[in-house]
Amino acid sequence: MSTAPGPAFPKPASTFYDEVGGHETFALLTQRFYDGVRADDLLAPMYPPEDLDGAQERLEQFLVQYWGGPSTYSDLRGHPRLRMRHAPFAVTPAARDRWLAHMRAALLSLDLPPLHEATLWDYLERAAHAMVNASDDVDVRAAAQAAVQGDRPTPLDPPHGRSLL
Ligand code: HEM
Repeated sequence: MSTAPGPAFPKPASTFYDEVGGHETFALLTQRFYDGVRADDLLAPMYPPEDLDGAQERLEQFLVQYWGGPSTYSDLRGHPRLRMRHAPFAVTPAARDRWLAHMRAALLSLDLPPLHEATLWDYLERAAHAMVNASDDVDVRAAAQAAVQGDRPTPLDPPHGRSLL
């Protein structure tokens, strides 16, 4: 009889990432999601035009890691700190709803088993609501333009140009 102790924290036999189809599933989800983003007049201007493929890859790697796949995202980008990374962009309720509409269409197109689909959707919906950092009266296009060009102040700054904090 072997007396070798097992690992203190054994790796689960299968992760949600595996169950849902592994890399291929997340690659398809983000590809189809970004097809929608590229054609969206509100969202497309928010993304770096020269690096949309890079943005797609970052989202894919993040979701893969989140659901138990390889940790390529953090190996390359460090801690996700997603709210902080979205701070330069005006994520308004309108932008969130567009983001979610493209994500919903992409997710449904995968035809996953209902429980997997519901699990993913529940997470994506909550994450998108948590990312909102501006109100709908912000001029999203001007804010995106300013963020991309590094101009200051942006419409997210107080009108007098000095932080209240
Ligand atoms: C709610 C609406 C959202 C909008 C309008 C939005 C917009 C953006 C934009 C403009 C970027 C910069 C593109 C880039 O260069 O990477 C970005 C990055 C990113 N977003 Fe979102 N996002 C939203 C929600 C989310 C959600 C819910 C998640 C995760 C579930 C997410 C995950 C990411 C990731 C992982 C990056 C790359 C971060 C990095 O490493 O730099 N986003 N997003």
